Amino acid sequence: MRLTLEEAAQRLKEDVVAIPTETVYGLAASLFCPSAIDKIFSLKKRPRVNPLIIHLAEIREIENWIESLPPDFDKLAQLWPGPLTLVLPARIDKIPDAVRADLPTAAFRIPALQLTRDLLKKTGPLVVPSANLSGRPSATEPAHVEHDFGVDFPVLDGGQTEKGLESTILGFSASSWEILRQGALPPEHFLSVLGYVPALAAVDPEHPTCPGQLFRHYAPQAKLVTSGPAEAILGFIERTYALPLIPLGSLTNPEEVAHNLYQALRRLDEQHLHTVRLDLDFPVTGLWATIRERLLRAASKYV
Ligand code: TXA
Ligand code: MG
Repeated sequence: MRLTLEEAAQRLKEDVVAIPTETVYGLAASLFCPSAIDKIFSLKKRPRVNPLIIHLAEIREIENWIESLPPDFDKLAQLWPGPLTLVLPARIDKIPDAVRADLPTAAFRIPALQLTRDLLKKTGPLVVPSANLSGRPSATEPAHVEHDFGVDFPVLDGGQTEKGLESTILGFSASSWEILRQGALPPEHFLSVLGYVPALAAVDPEHPTCPGQLFRHYAPQAKLVTSGPAEAILGFIERTYALPLIPLGSLTNPEEVAHNLYQALRRLDEQHLHTVRLDLDFPVTGLWATIRERLLRAASKYV
Protein backbone atom coordinates (compact mmCIF):
# COMPACT_ATOMS: atom_id res chain seq x y z
CA MET A 1 0.00 0.00 0.00
CA ARG A 2 1.64 3.23 -1.16
CA LEU A 3 1.21 6.19 1.20
CA THR A 4 1.49 9.93 0.66
CA LEU A 5 3.92 11.89 2.84
CA GLU A 6 1.00 13.12 4.95
CA GLU A 7 -0.42 9.59 5.39
CA ALA A 8 3.01 8.21 6.30
CA ALA A 9 3.54 10.93 8.94
CA GLN A 10 0.08 10.29 10.41
CA ARG A 11 0.55 6.52 10.53
CA LEU A 12 4.00 6.83 12.13
CA LYS A 13 2.36 8.22 15.27
CA GLU A 14 1.56 4.65 16.24
CA ASP A 15 2.74 2.20 13.61
CA VAL A 16 5.59 1.08 11.34
CA VAL A 17 5.94 2.47 7.79
CA ALA A 18 8.58 1.61 5.17
CA ILE A 19 10.36 4.72 3.97
CA PRO A 20 13.00 5.54 1.36
CA THR A 21 16.39 7.07 2.14
CA GLU A 22 19.27 7.78 -0.23
CA THR A 23 20.93 4.51 0.87
CA VAL A 24 18.27 1.78 1.17
CA TYR A 25 14.61 1.57 2.25
CA GLY A 26 14.03 1.35 5.99
CA LEU A 27 11.27 0.26 8.37
CA ALA A 28 10.54 3.40 10.36
CA ALA A 29 9.05 3.80 13.84
CA SER A 30 8.82 6.88 16.04
CA LEU A 31 11.45 7.05 18.79
CA PHE A 32 8.50 7.88 21.06
CA CYS A 33 6.38 4.82 20.19
CA PRO A 34 7.58 1.71 22.08
CA SER A 35 4.96 -0.58 20.51
CA ALA A 36 6.02 0.36 16.96
CA ILE A 37 9.71 -0.11 17.90
CA ASP A 38 8.84 -3.53 19.27
CA LYS A 39 6.94 -4.33 16.06
CA ILE A 40 10.05 -3.55 13.96
CA PHE A 41 12.01 -6.31 15.73
CA SER A 42 9.23 -8.85 15.25
CA LEU A 43 8.50 -7.91 11.62
CA LYS A 44 12.17 -8.16 10.63
CA LYS A 45 12.80 -11.17 12.89
CA ARG A 46 15.69 -9.08 14.14
CA PRO A 47 17.73 -10.18 17.18
CA ARG A 48 16.96 -7.76 20.05
CA VAL A 49 20.70 -7.37 20.71
CA ASN A 50 21.03 -5.53 17.39
CA PRO A 51 20.42 -1.80 18.03
CA LEU A 52 18.70 0.68 15.68
CA ILE A 53 19.91 3.90 14.04
CA ILE A 54 18.11 7.10 15.12
CA HIS A 55 17.36 9.29 12.07
CA LEU A 56 17.02 13.05 12.61
CA ALA A 57 16.05 15.95 10.31
CA GLU A 58 18.71 18.38 11.57
CA ILE A 59 22.21 18.09 13.04
CA ARG A 60 21.39 20.47 15.87
CA GLU A 61 18.79 17.98 17.25
CA ILE A 62 21.61 15.59 18.20
CA GLU A 63 22.61 17.46 21.32
CA ASN A 64 19.23 16.52 22.90
CA TRP A 65 20.17 12.87 22.76
CA ILE A 66 23.85 12.57 23.64
CA GLU A 67 26.11 12.87 26.69
CA SER A 68 29.15 14.37 24.99
CA LEU A 69 30.74 14.92 21.58
CA PRO A 70 33.87 12.94 20.66
CA PRO A 71 36.84 14.81 19.07
CA ASP A 72 36.40 15.89 15.45
CA PHE A 73 32.63 15.40 15.61
CA ASP A 74 32.19 18.77 13.85
CA LYS A 75 34.43 17.69 11.00
CA LEU A 76 32.43 14.51 10.41
CA ALA A 77 29.14 16.35 10.79
CA GLN A 78 30.08 18.29 7.62
CA LEU A 79 29.23 15.08 5.76
CA TRP A 80 25.60 15.33 6.93
CA PRO A 81 23.03 15.12 5.56
CA GLY A 82 24.37 11.97 3.93
CA PRO A 83 25.10 8.24 4.10
CA LEU A 84 27.05 8.43 7.37
CA THR A 85 26.07 7.06 10.79
CA LEU A 86 27.94 8.05 13.96
CA VAL A 87 27.87 6.03 17.18
CA LEU A 88 27.89 8.49 20.10
CA PRO A 89 27.61 8.38 23.93
CA ALA A 90 23.84 8.26 24.51
CA ARG A 91 21.51 9.93 27.02
CA ILE A 92 20.33 6.57 28.34
CA ASP A 93 17.64 8.31 30.40
CA LYS A 94 16.03 9.55 27.16
CA ILE A 95 16.68 6.89 24.51
CA PRO A 96 14.73 3.64 25.01
CA ASP A 97 16.81 0.57 25.94
CA ALA A 98 15.31 -1.37 23.01
CA VAL A 99 16.72 1.17 20.51
CA ARG A 100 20.23 0.95 22.01
CA ALA A 101 20.06 -2.78 22.77
CA ASP A 102 21.03 -1.66 26.30
CA LEU A 103 24.34 -0.19 25.11
CA PRO A 104 25.58 3.14 26.56
CA THR A 105 25.84 4.47 22.99
CA ALA A 106 23.37 5.19 20.20
CA ALA A 107 23.77 5.49 16.43
CA PHE A 108 22.65 8.65 14.61
CA ARG A 109 22.17 9.60 10.97
CA ILE A 110 20.86 12.67 9.15
CA PRO A 111 19.64 11.26 5.83
CA ALA A 112 19.99 13.32 2.64
CA LEU A 113 16.93 12.36 0.61
CA GLN A 114 14.60 15.36 0.63
CA LEU A 115 11.48 13.18 1.01
CA THR A 116 12.96 11.54 4.13
CA ARG A 117 13.88 14.93 5.59
CA ASP A 118 10.39 16.32 4.87
CA LEU A 119 8.95 13.30 6.69
CA LEU A 120 11.33 13.66 9.67
CA LYS A 121 10.34 17.33 10.02
CA LYS A 122 6.74 16.20 10.48
CA THR A 123 7.37 13.13 12.68
CA GLY A 124 10.44 13.96 14.78
CA PRO A 125 13.14 11.31 15.37
CA LEU A 126 12.59 7.93 13.72
CA VAL A 127 14.44 4.65 14.24
CA VAL A 128 14.99 3.10 10.80
CA PRO A 129 16.65 -0.30 10.22
CA SER A 130 16.86 -1.54 6.65
CA ALA A 131 13.49 -2.76 5.30
CA ASN A 132 14.36 -6.41 4.73
CA LEU A 133 13.87 -9.63 6.65
CA SER A 134 16.90 -10.03 8.92
CA GLY A 135 19.75 -11.71 7.02
CA ARG A 136 18.28 -11.05 3.57
CA PRO A 137 19.39 -8.51 0.91
CA SER A 138 18.34 -4.95 1.73
CA ALA A 139 15.50 -3.25 -0.15
CA THR A 140 16.24 -0.55 -2.71
CA GLU A 141 12.73 -0.10 -4.12
CA PRO A 142 9.14 -0.44 -2.83
CA ALA A 143 8.62 -3.80 -4.59
CA HIS A 144 11.46 -5.30 -2.49
CA VAL A 145 9.72 -4.19 0.72
CA GLU A 146 6.43 -5.65 -0.51
CA HIS A 147 8.17 -8.90 -1.39
CA ASP A 148 9.49 -9.27 2.19
CA PHE A 149 6.51 -7.88 4.16
CA GLY A 150 3.49 -8.34 1.87
CA VAL A 151 1.77 -6.27 -0.81
CA ASP A 152 -0.40 -4.47 1.72
CA PHE A 153 2.56 -3.19 3.73
CA PRO A 154 2.51 0.63 4.01
CA VAL A 155 5.32 2.18 1.96
CA LEU A 156 6.25 5.78 1.27
CA ASP A 157 7.32 5.51 -2.39
CA GLY A 158 10.55 7.32 -3.23
CA GLY A 159 11.38 5.21 -6.30
CA GLN A 160 14.75 3.44 -6.45
CA THR A 161 17.30 4.50 -3.86
CA GLU A 162 20.31 6.41 -5.16
CA LYS A 163 23.26 4.77 -3.35
CA GLY A 164 22.03 1.18 -3.01
CA LEU A 165 24.34 0.48 -0.04
CA GLU A 166 23.74 1.28 3.64
CA SER A 167 25.41 4.19 5.43
CA THR A 168 29.00 3.90 6.63
CA ILE A 169 29.06 3.61 10.45
CA LEU A 170 31.87 5.28 12.45
CA GLY A 171 32.56 5.08 16.18
CA PHE A 172 35.23 6.80 18.28
CA SER A 173 37.67 4.46 19.99
CA ALA A 174 40.54 5.58 22.32
CA SER A 175 42.08 8.27 20.13
CA SER A 176 40.60 7.92 16.66
CA TRP A 177 37.45 7.21 14.70
CA GLU A 178 37.10 3.74 13.25
CA ILE A 179 34.78 2.16 10.71
CA LEU A 180 32.27 -0.14 12.39
CA ARG A 181 30.42 -0.94 9.16
CA GLN A 182 31.67 -0.27 5.63
CA GLY A 183 29.08 1.53 3.55
CA ALA A 184 28.24 4.07 0.88
CA LEU A 185 31.09 6.39 1.97
CA PRO A 186 34.42 4.63 1.32
CA PRO A 187 37.25 4.92 3.92
CA GLU A 188 39.33 7.20 1.64
CA HIS A 189 36.49 9.72 1.69
CA PHE A 190 37.33 10.62 5.30
CA LEU A 191 40.96 11.60 4.60
CA SER A 192 40.16 15.17 3.59
CA VAL A 193 37.71 15.54 6.50
CA LEU A 194 39.61 13.91 9.40
CA GLY A 195 43.18 14.09 8.09
CA TYR A 196 43.47 10.29 8.29
CA VAL A 197 41.73 7.24 6.89
CA PRO A 198 39.81 5.52 9.71
CA ALA A 199 40.77 1.87 10.24
CA LEU A 200 38.26 -0.95 10.00
CA ALA A 201 37.26 -2.04 13.51
CA ALA A 202 38.01 -5.66 14.32
CA VAL A 203 34.89 -7.81 14.71
CA ASP A 204 35.24 -9.41 18.15
CA PRO A 205 32.24 -11.56 19.13
CA GLU A 206 33.13 -11.16 22.84
CA HIS A 207 33.10 -7.36 22.62
CA PRO A 208 31.03 -6.34 19.60
CA THR A 209 31.49 -2.68 18.62
CA CYS A 210 28.68 -3.00 16.09
CA PRO A 211 26.36 -5.90 17.03
CA GLY A 212 24.88 -6.12 13.53
CA GLN A 213 28.26 -7.21 12.17
CA LEU A 214 27.93 -10.52 14.02
CA PHE A 215 24.93 -11.69 12.05
CA ARG A 216 24.54 -13.18 8.60
CA HIS A 217 23.55 -10.46 6.11
CA TYR A 218 22.41 -9.66 2.61
CA ALA A 219 22.06 -13.33 1.63
CA PRO A 220 19.77 -14.61 -1.12
CA GLN A 221 18.36 -18.15 -0.98
CA ALA A 222 20.70 -19.04 -3.84
CA LYS A 223 24.09 -20.49 -2.90
CA LEU A 224 26.90 -18.08 -3.83
CA VAL A 225 30.27 -19.64 -4.69
CA THR A 226 33.61 -18.39 -6.03
CA SER A 227 34.50 -21.54 -7.96
CA GLY A 228 33.01 -24.82 -9.15
CA PRO A 229 29.81 -25.55 -11.01
CA ALA A 230 27.08 -22.88 -11.14
CA GLU A 231 24.00 -21.99 -13.19
CA ALA A 232 24.90 -18.30 -13.66
CA ILE A 233 27.52 -15.72 -12.76
CA LEU A 234 27.10 -12.40 -10.98
CA GLY A 235 29.53 -10.27 -12.96
CA PHE A 236 30.25 -7.31 -15.19
CA ILE A 237 28.88 -6.28 -18.56
CA GLU A 238 32.24 -5.87 -20.32
CA ARG A 239 33.38 -9.43 -19.56
CA THR A 240 32.57 -12.61 -21.46
CA TYR A 241 31.70 -15.60 -19.30
CA ALA A 242 30.97 -19.25 -20.02
CA LEU A 243 27.87 -18.95 -17.78
CA PRO A 244 24.75 -16.79 -18.24
CA LEU A 245 25.42 -13.33 -16.79
CA ILE A 246 23.41 -11.66 -14.02
CA PRO A 247 24.83 -8.15 -14.52
CA LEU A 248 26.00 -6.01 -11.61
CA GLY A 249 26.96 -3.17 -13.97
CA SER A 250 30.24 -1.91 -15.39
CA LEU A 251 33.77 -2.29 -14.00
CA THR A 252 34.25 1.42 -14.75
CA ASN A 253 31.34 2.50 -12.54
CA PRO A 254 31.34 1.29 -8.90
CA GLU A 255 28.48 3.69 -8.05
CA GLU A 256 26.30 1.92 -10.61
CA VAL A 257 27.32 -1.51 -9.25
CA ALA A 258 26.44 -0.38 -5.70
CA HIS A 259 23.11 0.96 -6.94
CA ASN A 260 22.28 -2.41 -8.59
CA LEU A 261 23.74 -4.78 -5.98
CA TYR A 262 20.73 -5.75 -3.82
CA GLN A 263 18.40 -5.80 -6.81
CA ALA A 264 20.77 -8.25 -8.53
CA LEU A 265 20.98 -10.45 -5.40
CA ARG A 266 17.19 -10.49 -5.17
CA ARG A 267 16.93 -11.35 -8.88
CA LEU A 268 18.79 -14.66 -8.24
CA ASP A 269 15.87 -15.85 -6.14
CA GLU A 270 13.23 -14.48 -8.53
CA GLN A 271 14.87 -16.64 -11.20
CA HIS A 272 14.93 -19.62 -8.77
CA LEU A 273 18.68 -20.11 -9.25
CA HIS A 274 20.31 -22.59 -6.87
CA THR A 275 24.04 -21.94 -7.32
CA VAL A 276 25.57 -18.72 -8.62
CA ARG A 277 29.24 -17.87 -9.05
CA LEU A 278 30.65 -14.50 -7.97
CA ASP A 279 33.16 -12.62 -10.13
CA LEU A 280 35.31 -11.03 -7.40
CA ASP A 281 38.02 -9.91 -9.83
CA PHE A 282 37.57 -6.16 -9.28
CA PRO A 283 39.50 -3.43 -7.40
CA VAL A 284 39.93 -3.55 -3.61
CA THR A 285 39.77 0.18 -2.87
CA GLY A 286 37.04 2.81 -2.61
CA LEU A 287 33.42 1.76 -3.01
CA TRP A 288 34.61 -1.56 -4.44
CA ALA A 289 35.72 -2.54 -0.90
CA THR A 290 32.15 -2.20 0.38
CA ILE A 291 30.76 -4.07 -2.65
CA ARG A 292 33.21 -6.93 -2.01
CA GLU A 293 32.33 -7.01 1.70
CA ARG A 294 28.59 -7.23 0.92
CA LEU A 295 29.11 -10.03 -1.64
CA LEU A 296 31.33 -12.02 0.73
CA ARG A 297 28.84 -11.65 3.57
CA ALA A 298 26.01 -12.68 1.25
CA ALA A 299 28.08 -15.78 0.44
CA SER A 300 29.45 -16.29 3.94
CA LYS A 301 27.96 -19.74 4.50
CA TYR A 302 29.65 -21.01 1.35
CA VAL A 303 32.86 -19.09 0.58
O1 TXA B 1 21.80 3.39 5.48
C1 TXA B 1 21.43 2.97 6.58
O2 TXA B 1 22.11 3.07 7.61
C2 TXA B 1 20.04 2.30 6.63
C3 TXA B 1 18.98 3.34 6.24
C4 TXA B 1 17.57 2.80 6.34
O3 TXA B 1 19.15 4.51 6.99
N1 TXA B 1 19.80 1.71 7.91
C5 TXA B 1 20.43 0.58 8.32
O4 TXA B 1 20.00 0.10 9.54
O5 TXA B 1 21.28 0.02 7.67
P1 TXA B 1 20.29 -1.42 10.05
O6 TXA B 1 19.42 -1.57 11.24
O7 TXA B 1 20.06 -2.37 8.94
O8 TXA B 1 21.78 -1.39 10.50
C6 TXA B 1 22.13 -0.66 11.66
C7 TXA B 1 23.49 -1.05 12.11
C8 TXA B 1 23.56 -2.42 12.76
O9 TXA B 1 24.71 -3.09 12.28
C9 TXA B 1 23.70 -2.08 14.24
O10 TXA B 1 24.41 -3.07 14.93
C10 TXA B 1 24.45 -0.76 14.18
O11 TXA B 1 23.86 -0.08 13.11
N2 TXA B 1 24.27 0.05 15.41
C11 TXA B 1 23.16 0.66 15.84
N3 TXA B 1 23.36 1.24 17.05
C12 TXA B 1 24.63 0.99 17.38
C13 TXA B 1 25.46 1.30 18.52
N4 TXA B 1 24.98 1.98 19.55
N5 TXA B 1 26.73 0.87 18.52
C14 TXA B 1 27.22 0.17 17.46
N6 TXA B 1 26.50 -0.16 16.37
C15 TXA B 1 25.22 0.23 16.33
MG1 MG C 1 20.28 -4.03 7.73
